[in-house]
Amino acid sequence: MAPPLLNLDGIRLTFGGTPLLDGAALSASAGDKIALVGRNGSGKSTLLKIAAGMIEPQDGEVFRQPSATVRYLPQMPDMDGFANVRAYVEAGLGPADDPYRATYLMEHLGLTGEERPNDLSGGEARRAALARVMAPEPDILLLDEPTNHLDLSVIEWLEEELARTSSAVILISHDRRFLERVSRATVWLDRGQTKRLDKGFGHFEEWRDQVLEEEEREQHKLGRQIVREEHWLRYGVTARRKRNMRRLGELQTMRQRFRSHRGAEGTATLVASDAAESGKLVIEAKNIEKSFGDLTVVKGFSTRI
Ligand SMILES: Nc1ncnc2c1ncn2[C@@H]1O[C@H](COP(=O)(O)OP(=O)(O)OP(=O)(O)O)[C@@H](O)[C@H]1O
Ligand SMILES: [Mg+2]
Repeated sequence: MAPPLLNLDGIRLTFGGTPLLDGAALSASAGDKIALVGRNGSGKSTLLKIAAGMIEPQDGEVFRQPSATVRYLPQMPDMDGFANVRAYVEAGLGPADDPYRATYLMEHLGLTGEERPNDLSGGEARRAALARVMAPEPDILLLDEPTNHLDLSVIEWLEEELARTSSAVILISHDRRFLERVSRATVWLDRGQTKRLDKGFGHFEEWRDQVLEEEEREQHKLGRQIVREEHWLRYGVTARRKRNMRRLGELQTMRQRFRSHRGAEGTATLVASDAAESGKLVIEAKNIEKSFGDLTVVKGFSTRI
């Protein structure tokens, strides 16, 4: 495998509350065509901005090969200070880049180059930004929603351009057909973490469902294991005799893992039912606390059964 041009690892970023990125990774080598996917608000744009060097993560490793050129297509281009589209697009070229490429791209994107920034529609501004990032044929091309405002014929042209380019491309797009046709690998950002599939987006959904089912099974298994351990510690003869600290410690770790599991987001149906109290009072406990040495296993526990 070619050495990576870009490697992000263990990326953490929190904007208050639940971490947005919680150990995310993203890596690209020459010629890679990667779809970066995840639910709305899962942090895709933020991760791409970190890859582009526009945002610093709070923790994690960001490696960009020092000689690699990087271009990033933002969701909102800023054309302030440029006389016309041509000036804006050509300002994206490096000293050794061929200006013809800028002309070629503007032409295919339906721009003459003479348009003035203030007169552009949202769609024209995005097309200008696309020409600007693609013109220098960068080593790493980061595209956030490149097909927004594009006609189908232009999208098809873009698919071919991206298939041809030797740039490593990382794409965010809600356009499933476009992702399917361009990507050769898929990175799934979910609950702050990433998983990578070395196949295009066409294979994503089946794979994601398998991953989620496996996770569900693991969590269920862990839950059952905790119940067994609790039973052993409570009733096991050996446990009572030795007060097996190691197993107790392991149980704590399992409980921690069980609790810290962030379930996949989906739709949940909650039904609350209200039943009248019935039967005899079996237990009423208030503020129970129990420790083994320094290890507190129960604190502030109250119940009524
Ligand atoms: N600078 C910031 N300060 C506070 N919150 C932010 C900041 N940047 C992003 N966020 C929040 O982080 C979350 C993820 O944003 P981001 O734009 O990265 O997600 P996304 O996956 O690209 O979403 P979409 O699919 O809607 O484009 C959002 O809830 C957003 O409001
Ligand atoms: Mg986004």
